[in-house]
Amino acid sequence: MTCISMRTPARARPCNHSNRRGIGASVGLDCMWRAAISLVLAACILSGCRRSPEVVDFAGSYPARASATGTIREFELVAAPSSALLFGDRPFAVWAYNGEVPGPTLRVHLGDSVRVRFTNQLPQATTVHWHGVRVPNAMDGVPGVTQPPVQPGETFVYEFTPPDAGTFWFHPHLRSSEQVERGLFGALIVEDAAPPPFSRDELWVLDDWLLTPEGALFAEFNTRHDLAHDGRWGNVVTVNGQRIPRLAVRPGERIRLRLLNVANGRVFVPDFAGLAAHVIAVDGLYAAHPINLARFEMAPGNRMDLDIVIPADAAGQRVTVTDRFTRRAIPLAEIIVEGDPVVTPQFESPALAHVPSWERADRATPLRAEFRLNAQRGGPFGIQWTINGAAMDHETHALPGHLQHLPIGEFSRLRFVNESYRLHPMHMHGLFFKVLARNGVAVDEAHFRDTVLVHPKESVDIGTVPLDPGRWMLHCHILEHAESGMMTVIAVN
Ligand code: C2O
Ligand code: CU
Repeated sequence: MTCISMRTPARARPCNHSNRRGIGASVGLDCMWRAAISLVLAACILSGCRRSPEVVDFAGSYPARASATGTIREFELVAAPSSALLFGDRPFAVWAYNGEVPGPTLRVHLGDSVRVRFTNQLPQATTVHWHGVRVPNAMDGVPGVTQPPVQPGETFVYEFTPPDAGTFWFHPHLRSSEQVERGLFGALIVEDAAPPPFSRDELWVLDDWLLTPEGALFAEFNTRHDLAHDGRWGNVVTVNGQRIPRLAVRPGERIRLRLLNVANGRVFVPDFAGLAAHVIAVDGLYAAHPINLARFEMAPGNRMDLDIVIPADAAGQRVTVTDRFTRRAIPLAEIIVEGDPVVTPQFESPALAHVPSWERADRATPLRAEFRLNAQRGGPFGIQWTINGAAMDHETHALPGHLQHLPIGEFSRLRFVNESYRLHPMHMHGLFFKVLARNGVAVDEAHFRDTVLVHPKESVDIGTVPLDPGRWMLHCHILEHAESGMMTVIAVN
């Protein structure tokens, strides 16, 4: 069976991908889902908002709202000082969720509702933010914007139904340059309703730590050095809290490897040394097609899901995965191929999402807003990072400038202009966007993002059709830059 999506005839294409975005195990459900999106957009048109070509092209990219199955998955999450076995099983003083670093991986299925009873046993206030998840605004974990801070000893219940499958994560959104660095982060994995039959599904949490010569965590945060550079870069790089861990696999296995960068400032460019690796999802959402892994820059906050097939004749091989962002390659992990070969699972890549091309949007559509990124002297740390000349207060999150509105269900083109010589991975809550241009040159990435790295002196245009109402943060994910002011709020309504 084939049905045609309700888009303009020139762009109509059959929606016959049985496992597309994992929504609906059958063709019929998938088509129904896309029809539902079209209906929502149609309602928007009837209620008066313009249906730009970009909105038409966007239809079917991701659902307007979550369809809850009624299953509730409950989790207890406690943030507390603790000791974790890091860097080759050395007990190390951390702040951790449930005593683990990385924190527990919360794995749910698309359609499940997530209820997290969070308790703060830290010596300072905190919140939990669900990075990349389109949650109801009140569940977004931003102190002063969506909730009061959770004080020491207090409990807060986060409850939401993720509308998108993919790799997401959670971390504090208060004093995050200290709290994330001390070990507070974990992954939220939303599996497809019918997950593709990979041989295994692995998570690598990439991080770095700044240690003193004695091997303790360097306990000064937001230093002038960090602020004058690209945040705090550590001197020890870890994957899942370990230095160069080994992943043993069998020949023939087809692996879904989820990469997550939780570092305060470090950017990673993972290199798999000739292993065939395809990017199937970025920042949670599936890509339009599998992308050969070349030089993909994973800035703080970014996720990337890979589809890796271990060759059937690779027994005995050892692949060192390295980071190539800096001039000196840094070993991240080793993949050891051992044991008897298995039959490689054969299935169509799940990277089949509809991603709008928005090819003319970089010229034809006027800019809704421009965000100039720069620094100035002053503030509690001596240097402030600013958006349009204003620095947000890191404790209160009080809006320093005027509130930028984005109309819900409509296309907005936005521009980041980096006037500084530092990196700024700009992250938006509550929506996904697509890069349209870099330095005025059109770019057509085959995927959405929630975080884009803006290089020194670079300008980046993005496009978005926000579907979720609320007040959403827009900030640099170099946590020291955010802490010293590089944050603002967007109102989607
Ligand atoms: Cu990962 Cu506003 O953050
Ligand atoms: Cu920055």
